[in-house]
Amino acid sequence: MGGIRASCRWLECVVLVILLFGRVVCGKTNISNQWKWNILLNNTGVVAMHMAVTHDDNVVIFDQTSAGPSEYRLRNCKAHGSGDSSCYAHSVEYNVLKNKVRAMHLATDTWCSSGSFLSNGSLLQTGGNGLGSRRIRSYRPCANSRCDWMELKRQLTVRRWYSSSLYLPRENGVIVVGGKGEFSYEFVPKASDSSKPYDLPFLHRTYEPNSKGNNLYPFLHLSTDGHLFIFANRDSILFDYKRHKVVKTFPTIPGHGGRSYPSSGSSVMLPLDHNNNFTKVEIMVCGGAARGSYRAARRGNYLPALKSCGRMVITGDQHRWRMETMPGPRLMSDMLILPTGDILIINGAKRGCAGWGSASSPAFEPYLYKPNRKSGNRFQILKPTKIARLYHSSAVLLPDGRILVAGGNPNSEYITHGVAHPTELRLQALIPDYMNTGFDHLRPQNVTIVYPQDATGVANGNTFGLTFRVGSGLNNMSVVAYAPPFTTHSSSMNQRMVRLECLSTEVSGEDTVATVMVPHSIHVAPPGFYMLTVVNGGIPSRSSWVRIL
Ligand SMILES: *[C@@H]1O[C@H](CO)[C@@H](O)[C@H](O)[C@H]1NC(C)=O
Ligand SMILES: *[C@@H]1O[C@H](CO)[C@@H](O)[C@H](O)[C@H]1NC(C)=O
Ligand SMILES: *[C@@H]1O[C@H](CO)[C@@H](O)[C@H](O)[C@H]1NC(C)=O
Ligand SMILES: *[C@@H]1O[C@H](CO)[C@@H](O)[C@H](O)[C@H]1NC(C)=O
Ligand SMILES: *[C@@H]1O[C@H](CO)[C@@H](O)[C@H](O)[C@H]1NC(C)=O
Ligand SMILES: *[C@@H]1O[C@H](CO)[C@@H](O)[C@H](O)[C@H]1NC(C)=O
Repeated sequence: MGGIRASCRWLECVVLVILLFGRVVCGKTNISNQWKWNILLNNTGVVAMHMAVTHDDNVVIFDQTSAGPSEYRLRNCKAHGSGDSSCYAHSVEYNVLKNKVRAMHLATDTWCSSGSFLSNGSLLQTGGNGLGSRRIRSYRPCANSRCDWMELKRQLTVRRWYSSSLYLPRENGVIVVGGKGEFSYEFVPKASDSSKPYDLPFLHRTYEPNSKGNNLYPFLHLSTDGHLFIFANRDSILFDYKRHKVVKTFPTIPGHGGRSYPSSGSSVMLPLDHNNNFTKVEIMVCGGAARGSYRAARRGNYLPALKSCGRMVITGDQHRWRMETMPGPRLMSDMLILPTGDILIINGAKRGCAGWGSASSPAFEPYLYKPNRKSGNRFQILKPTKIARLYHSSAVLLPDGRILVAGGNPNSEYITHGVAHPTELRLQALIPDYMNTGFDHLRPQNVTIVYPQDATGVANGNTFGLTFRVGSGLNNMSVVAYAPPFTTHSSSMNQRMVRLECLSTEVSGEDTVATVMVPHSIHVAPPGFYMLTVVNGGIPSRSSWVRIL
């Protein structure tokens, strides 16, 4: 077995070195061809500008009501009725099991908006453009496929177009930060009676007027001490949102160019681990656009994107960006945490910046990043797709372990012909190597969550039971909880992975029974629905939804 694997790897390297003309040094950049691509649907009808997996295993997809006709007609309208958003759907729900979409109905424009799941599993969606720019919408997932968008009566205090949102467990609400021309934040529900937002000078400081801001869609992460990490353009702070005070100002990320919209790099909080009692929080930021990219792109000159990633521990008192180089330049990519704890970098382009017609050279190859390897040995190039996923594309991890990839539309309307990059409505799955049936002897099967008696979930600081089967016995087993993100514009809002402590495991016959601890702190594991996965010998189970109350 070992011999066969070793020789296969060797062969892979030889083949790839030949294929890539020595562009990649064998042994340095590890290439995996075990990953597969699959087209699930040829037409979702609606561009996946925004996408999120709900706890009933469906996927909410939407774009903007102002894009004119989509490819999902709701009713017959006159040819020039294209301005009427009730003629065409601009949101669908994808049913993963049935591999089908159904239309949903948006009343106002959700263009470049934000969203967060609340602890009860409802999606709170905020902002947009035009009449939608101050709107708050709610989507409550349901099993009967009848649920739809609801517009709330209360509105945001200001217009929020290109803002970010994050769930706050202490308030059981969200914070919405920034937006075009908005250097402020606010809470939903409101923290006080004030009808004004809170000023955030950090957004003034990071604003680049000649580059459409370069600090839109700021990256937000909730640190385990309850403070908010905010990254915009090239700078970041730790923010005590309760007292409205900056707690720390971190060093500027090295290198030129921007990382936030429209430079559109991406960020991730690396998995939190019970082994250090969740005291180490590390942020990684990858890619972005070169300095001057926005202006150059307007003249049709697409500058090469940034190739660098930075990692910084935001807890403790030593803060330094440790820089690494990706196998290639890229921007407008999504960064997703896989159940293995590896980071997937997928979608986007190699040149230009975000915006209509502002990028070229699609990044067809996803990268896999293994955070715990030695620096210089962490990136793997995965099998390329043939489908460009440029501006307004997205990707999410599904409970079965696949990655759903959708969208892409660098045009102001739905355009299928005669442009360099037509509107992309094909829905794809990327199937990771860990799903290969050759690993089934390691894969935990029939993972069942056992709550304390009569409970519908488990509270912070309590334990729950877990039963599963593994063919070949336990091998470095771990249990991870994943908060599914709301993804849009290279931002995976609220994405979070927590490695849980297993207090005991007992093997009886074929079954393993484990007792798993939910972290004490709501700032480590905020209440909500998580995808729970058992990983054995590096091979993840299917995820089951666990609810932290
Ligand atoms: C390449 O990846 C394989 C499988 O993930 C791993 O076993 C091997 O050690 C890696 N090789 C290098 C040089 O990183
Ligand atoms: C998508 O279209 C291609 C080309 O027409 C066809 O071969 C393929 O079967 C279709 N796939 C699906 C999932 O409908
Ligand atoms: C969750 O809470 C929000 C805010 O209180 C409410 O609007 C929504 O209907 C709730 N959803 C569910 C599934 O109970
Ligand atoms: C871990 O952190 C929690 C607070 O989040 C604290 O109550 C607990 O005592 C810590 N445990 C250890 C072993 O340090
Ligand atoms: C385990 O799951 C499979 C498929 O999900 C099912 O067919 C089988 O009956 C289950 N086995 C047990 C012991 O529950
Ligand atoms: C065991 O699993 C953990 C978490 O998945 C991983 O970080 C670690 O490297 C693994 N250890 C070994 C020896 O494979």
